[in-house]
Amino acid sequence: MSQSIRRVLSLVTAALLGLSTALVARPGPALAAPGPTFTNPVVDVPNSADPTLTYYNGFYYYVATTWSADVVMRRSATIAGLRTATEQVVVRTGGTTMWAPHLEMINNRWYLYYSIEQSGGARRTHVAESAGTDPLGPYTVRGILNLMPNGGWAIDAAPLKLGTALYMTFSAFHADGLQSLYIAPMSNPYTASAVGSRISAPTLAWETQNGAVNEGSFPLQRNGRTFLTYSASHCNGPNYKLGMLEYTGTNPLAASSWTKAAGPIFQRNDAAGVFGPGHHSFFTSPDGTETWIAYHANSSASQGCGTTRTTRVQKISWNADGTPNLGVPVSTATVLAAPSGETATPVRIRNQHSNLCLDDYNWVTTPGAEIRQWTCGTAAVQDWYLVPAADGYVTISNRNSGLCLDDKDWATAPGSVVQQWTCNGLAVQQWKVTAVGDGYATLQNRTSGLCLDNYNFGTAPGAEVRQWTCSGNNAQRWAIA
Ligand code: AHR
Repeated sequence: MSQSIRRVLSLVTAALLGLSTALVARPGPALAAPGPTFTNPVVDVPNSADPTLTYYNGFYYYVATTWSADVVMRRSATIAGLRTATEQVVVRTGGTTMWAPHLEMINNRWYLYYSIEQSGGARRTHVAESAGTDPLGPYTVRGILNLMPNGGWAIDAAPLKLGTALYMTFSAFHADGLQSLYIAPMSNPYTASAVGSRISAPTLAWETQNGAVNEGSFPLQRNGRTFLTYSASHCNGPNYKLGMLEYTGTNPLAASSWTKAAGPIFQRNDAAGVFGPGHHSFFTSPDGTETWIAYHANSSASQGCGTTRTTRVQKISWNADGTPNLGVPVSTATVLAAPSGETATPVRIRNQHSNLCLDDYNWVTTPGAEIRQWTCGTAAVQDWYLVPAADGYVTISNRNSGLCLDDKDWATAPGSVVQQWTCNGLAVQQWKVTAVGDGYATLQNRTSGLCLDNYNFGTAPGAEVRQWTCSGNNAQRWAIA
């Protein structure tokens, strides 16, 4: 059967299909046209605690605790894309259990500050410097910061710029046994000119739950005011939270120059299922008009400091008195508009076996429209938006049809049809993207539990797409980029 006949027949079929399925239209609100939205977590376990997220030259750059010897970085043009962005090793630290990398540009170079343990010694803060202005590096390890006497334990370093002066805020244990916030003067981004002095100890009740801790400091400056936000109480429990100091003095090295807010500024939200929110960073939206927070949290009150902590982001606002208002941590089911100035970036979805791309077959835009595979090109019919839905699933909508990839009629048998249907966010339109190596991923439907499949291993344009029992073979492996 010639190609053109096949396409005409399928056009007719699609029309009939559209008519028939219109008679069985499924309930549920149609979602807004695909655009930059996302849900949390934006980065899932395991490398998703203590996040630093920054926006630079058109991309978000993300680093987080890895518990390994390496600092790895993700880059994405959108928040929604962070979830499936590739982890790239940017620093091989030469140590173990890398914690809490902080990424910052100082004097036109990027610096990564992170803590590791080395040859059994105390955990200390190390620093790496980029060769140029690319956050992805390459980096040169510049060594260890001498932040505490006698090479003492020091973690969670974050630079503070006050005028032309540079300081390093960090967390360390005081002689009184309290893990506190310190600040040290810096002669350059990789040299402390003196050991740190304590500026905050965990003494208030809300700072001592599950353990007295002040750590994870991150400066926030606006309209000439300097706030030092930080994590309080122990990460081993649901009461890990954020507090805030403001610089109100004239000598940043003196504790008297810092005024502590009486209560926490960000904490657990049981109703939303968010526990132990903390160890955060702040970033600016692509158009520079909004300030956002990235933080980690657990989804259960019984989880702690391990690899269950996932990264979430949300916009912050400002109180009338000029202090930051972080609000409350939102649920992972909340669909959020992406940061202002972000444009959704569509992807192509190419099958490893056929080397063909997922395609809105014959440019149909009515519900029930077919999906086939076709020679990969640049047309809108092959542009797909992966928009995260709840619980780590995504919906997949087509740029030409505006419709979503849908398990037709909630079928669950191998061979079930995949169609395009009005986006409704229901489970039939939710797909779990699982990386399976070499840049490929499987797409498993939340209702059927089946995987998107190059049906019968077709390799000709027009090859069918169905759902089949997940096997991991190359007919079910898709490159999403
Ligand atoms: O996640 C590892 C360490 O635990 C971080 O450095 C610290 O902030 C947290 O409590």
